Amino acid sequence: MPPLLLLLLPVLSPALAWIPVEDWESGNVTASVGDSGQCVCQVYLPDTTFPADRVQHMQEVNKDMMVEVNIQKNKLVSYQVKVEIYLEELMNLTVRVVMLETSADDYIKLDFELLRIELREFEALVSQLKFSLNSSSPLFDSLYTEIRNMTLIVNQLETYDKSNLAVIRIEFAKLQKKLQDCQKEQEFSNPDIGNCNHTGIISVSKPTVVQLNGHLSSSYVYGVWGRDSKPNRGYESMHFFGAYSTPHVYDLYLYTSYENLILRNLFKHYDLPTEWVGIGDNYILHGNAIYYQHNSPFSMTKLNLTTAKYDYRVIAAASTAFSYRYSENQNIDFAADENGLWVMYASHASMGKIVLAKVDENSFGITDEWTTGAYKQLAGNAFMACGVMYVTRSVDLNTEEIYYAYDTKTKQEKLLNIQFNKFQEKYSSLDYNPIDQKLYMYNNGYYVSYNVKFNRE
Ligand SMILES: *[C@@H]1O[C@H](CO)[C@@H](O)[C@H](O)[C@H]1NC(C)=O
Ligand SMILES: *[C@@H]1O[C@H](CO)[C@@H](O)[C@H](O)[C@H]1NC(C)=O
Ligand SMILES: *[C@@H]1O[C@H](CO)[C@@H](O)[C@H](O)[C@H]1NC(C)=O
Ligand SMILES: *[C@@H]1O[C@H](CO)[C@@H](O)[C@H](O)[C@H]1NC(C)=O
Ligand SMILES: *[C@@H]1O[C@H](CO)[C@@H](O)[C@H](O)[C@H]1NC(C)=O
Ligand SMILES: *[C@@H]1O[C@H](CO)[C@@H](O)[C@H](O)[C@H]1NC(C)=O
Repeated sequence: MPPLLLLLLPVLSPALAWIPVEDWESGNVTASVGDSGQCVCQVYLPDTTFPADRVQHMQEVNKDMMVEVNIQKNKLVSYQVKVEIYLEELMNLTVRVVMLETSADDYIKLDFELLRIELREFEALVSQLKFSLNSSSPLFDSLYTEIRNMTLIVNQLETYDKSNLAVIRIEFAKLQKKLQDCQKEQEFSNPDIGNCNHTGIISVSKPTVVQLNGHLSSSYVYGVWGRDSKPNRGYESMHFFGAYSTPHVYDLYLYTSYENLILRNLFKHYDLPTEWVGIGDNYILHGNAIYYQHNSPFSMTKLNLTTAKYDYRVIAAASTAFSYRYSENQNIDFAADENGLWVMYASHASMGKIVLAKVDENSFGITDEWTTGAYKQLAGNAFMACGVMYVTRSVDLNTEEIYYAYDTKTKQEKLLNIQFNKFQEKYSSLDYNPIDQKLYMYNNGYYVSYNVKFNRE
């Protein structure tokens, strides 16, 4: 079976072209190789080409919806997913090779031929990726060589004893390891990650519309998705989502990687017990714990996923009277940045303006508080990055802007107009993640992400 994605990409979107990462603001696809030879690639949504109207129409045409979702998924999927699919295909090949050993001779010839075809496809794909990424990465080079080697091995095997098939299994295993290393390497590649030596956000990229939520249903308009912002060792790329048709939080889903989230290869599903059901979908995953809003008692609540224990703290001043513009019940909003955990709420004392508080993770108590100048009910959402609170508001149906910033270090506020595109008008969560410096938005049922650019002048 041919690897689906790369073969589909040129057919579906001839406009997609590989361009250097520096052009990330204007480009549709960016791909490059970083300093340490890692592969970095993103597909951005081109405003004009993304068939938003078509997607909406398809949602009405129920029977074709799955098809459309799959097309969008394939079209907008990132390079990591391609690698994930290579891995799966390679594993499938490995399984087939094992089967070859026990199959009747008649089939062996045919199977060898199929293996050769598949290996040729792999070779073409890796070659294409290598070219696309303009890669001088040793990882890519050896991957390329090994696929060629494996073709030779398959050819040789046919003429030799079939017990040599063990060799091919070892080769496949090596290849899988290489691909996994390549994925891991790119995670820890960006020297700017964690560095707050800048004067704040200056721009937000085009949205990457990842896909419809994991329930594949556009009626789950409330929700959240993201990635653990302080992952535990061994779970470096833990992703999560929760999607609901009302602004409540009763369950959530965990995936060990972005690829698994996309492919919906579940790690764990949590059903919150009735007494711990939450509200407002502005929660985050931080240090393998979910921080969310609980309504009786009205409090900030932590579910420690390591121990499955719940804990809560009442914020006496916080009021249920104020929510963000696009969703109800969003009274307590959690955020995490380079400095740790934060919570944002509004109170009667602040007259509806957002109060920002620093949360101590060990005691789960509030250590410091700042009353900002941003009215919660006018805000689309708010998030933290490098100790600065950023607040968004609507410009028009497809445009949102970061209009306000509050710096906790200087206690200074500042008006901004950093605009960015929305896929759909309403969104129920928006959070920055310091691990990858991306914004994660749950945009009316869709997973959307953005890169942010900091002013490092
Ligand atoms: C992005 O896509 C649009 C629409 O297809 C195209 O006009 C534009 O040239 C593309 N931009 C780049 C940098 O490839
Ligand atoms: C791997 O094999 C399984 C079972 O035969 C199949 O469902 C799946 O689509 C295959 N995956 C790929 C990527 O070929
Ligand atoms: C590929 O990389 C080389 C240097 O490694 C550079 O000279 C060349 O311009 C790059 N090509 C493209 C298309 O980016
Ligand atoms: C390719 O195969 C040759 C001969 O079997 C071996 O010496 C070489 O190390 C292999 N190269 C890679 C990159 O696996
Ligand atoms: C922060 O950035 C400025 C300007 O780029 C530079 O001069 C300074 O040395 C940097 N400071 C640190 C601590 O890296
Ligand atoms: C979760 O529980 C474990 C075990 O008691 C503890 O080590 C860890 O700090 C807790 N995490 C959070 C975020 O409370």
